[in-house]
Amino acid sequence: MALYAIGDLHLSLGTNKPMDVFGGGWVDYTDKLTAGFSSLNADDVCVLCGDISWGMSLDESLEDFKFIDRLPGKKIILKGNHDYWWATAAKMESFFSSNGITSIEILHNNCYYCSGVAICGTRGWLGDEQLTAEQNAKIYSRETTRLRASLQAAKNADVKICFFHYPVRFKNIVCHEFITAMDEFGVKSCYYGHLHGEGHRLAVRGLVDGINYEIVSADFVDFVPRKVSY
Ligand SMILES: [Fe+2]
Ligand SMILES: [Fe+2]
Repeated sequence: MALYAIGDLHLSLGTNKPMDVFGGGWVDYTDKLTAGFSSLNADDVCVLCGDISWGMSLDESLEDFKFIDRLPGKKIILKGNHDYWWATAAKMESFFSSNGITSIEILHNNCYYCSGVAICGTRGWLGDEQLTAEQNAKIYSRETTRLRASLQAAKNADVKICFFHYPVRFKNIVCHEFITAMDEFGVKSCYYGHLHGEGHRLAVRGLVDGINYEIVSADFVDFVPRKVSY
């Protein structure tokens, strides 16, 4: 049983959002994902770090979920900024089960285990210039609460790994509240997505103040899930 992560699948099998306009890497990306997942086994676990489907509703995203479900292993999903179909966990779970989708689990205020390692996380937040400082602070605070709930659920695990959609560190932005929570719970590894194309150059990778950061956006990892070491 191995743990993997990949972010930003940006699927649009039930909608019409061509991704090849975002650069050569995205041409035939669903084929690349199928090939990339082919080395995973049925008992492996892969965290999908947000921006999963372009659908605007669960129904519009159904074909994308079916595609994900056909990929080997259990998939643990967290929300990205483009996941407009995201609903309550109860609604999503009921939608998945009524459509025969059995390999997707939802990471939201909770944690999962893979070989005794706790998988924790939340979407995160980078701030939005179009929002007021107060609005941004409210979202940041909500995401901190979600991260802490996830870490608290895993409090007895020796090893906890955090997964976000947004980077925790980016350019001059440092999400201190997330880092404080990760430090408090002894997290040493943090994976994230969201950054594409030129954004990859600005991604923080490697050890910073005791936490190892790694970007796993699909176009960064060539559509091959990245093995998570622990
Ligand atoms: Fe994103
Ligand atoms: Fe994205």
